[in-house]
Amino acid sequence: MVSYKELGLVNTREMFKRAINGGYAIPAFNFNNMEQLQAIIKASSELKSPVILQVSNGARNYANPTLLRYLAQGAVAYAKECGCENPEVVLHLDHGNSFELCKSCIDLGFSSVMIDGSALPYEENIALTKKVVEYAHQFDVTVEGELGVLAGVEDEVASEESHYTKPEEVIDFTQKTGVDSLAISIGTSHGAYKFKPEQCTRDPKTGKLVPPPLAFDVLDAIMEQLPGFPIVLHGSSSVPQEYVDMINEYGGKLPDAVGIPEEQLRKASKSAVCKINIDSDSRLAFTAAVRKTLAEKPGEFDPRKYCGPARDLMEELYKHKIVDVLGSDNKLAK
Ligand code: G3H
Ligand code: 13P
Ligand code: ZN
Repeated sequence: MVSYKELGLVNTREMFKRAINGGYAIPAFNFNNMEQLQAIIKASSELKSPVILQVSNGARNYANPTLLRYLAQGAVAYAKECGCENPEVVLHLDHGNSFELCKSCIDLGFSSVMIDGSALPYEENIALTKKVVEYAHQFDVTVEGELGVLAGVEDEVASEESHYTKPEEVIDFTQKTGVDSLAISIGTSHGAYKFKPEQCTRDPKTGKLVPPPLAFDVLDAIMEQLPGFPIVLHGSSSVPQEYVDMINEYGGKLPDAVGIPEEQLRKASKSAVCKINIDSDSRLAFTAAVRKTLAEKPGEFDPRKYCGPARDLMEELYKHKIVDVLGSDNKLAK
């Protein structure tokens, strides 16, 4: 058993309280490899932002669970080296789908876990979530639960369509489970194709898809039921069209990729939404930079020469999200 506190990590409790009171959101960036981690830590440390390092089960298997623990420990040391005296770094399991997986992460030093029972019948979601909370809270690890189902693929939890969170269930769910935060469904979804073309309109000038707005009325109704309770938004990549265009220009094929407009995320950040999950945007930035570099320098075969530009572009992206969208810069406790 490794305590996250020994690794220099923190849980989400205090940072969420401050985020809600301060009208901003904490970035939860997924990572799978060293370059993503470097870019996340550099961006968040230089900007003095708390940050959630988010790991899916797929990422855990890709990176290796033991190595991950040391990467997280290294991330805290690196944040200090980047000029952050007291970094606030959370290591969070994204979309945990079983008690055993959550327990294994907690035992390996994660400071926060998500148990995603959103595809289960309501009572089963409650029972599973409660079991994880009871285990996690013994070690002061915070837990995110989910109510409502996002469209698209939730890691290994697949669903065809979006079912918004029912505001009338949130009090019962949070009270019975004891979760520290609640992921909700208000129209966001995972991946780079968040909406079907028939759900959107088209900008006549650019030909690009314009997505429908998020269901802020559902968010308002949830906040009315749970005043001051930490709310989480998954599937919050914006799918920047400059990256999509770059990928397409240099041999890729991403037709009609579309995300959540940043002004809607800005609006959500000012509410009780205090954690915003972003993964796909970083994947797009990475791929765009690698494609461009390799297309321009076909003789290049040193991975540092194309992963380096990818890392730079991701750092720029993370900084933009922190400063211009979520507003979490200069929000460390000390
Ligand atoms: O919500 C899903 C995340 O983007 C993680 O995706 O399972 O491909 O690592 P992944
Ligand atoms: P995106 O696919 O929109 O980046 O969402 C990531 C996410 O929700 C991770 O849990
Ligand atoms: Zn998610």
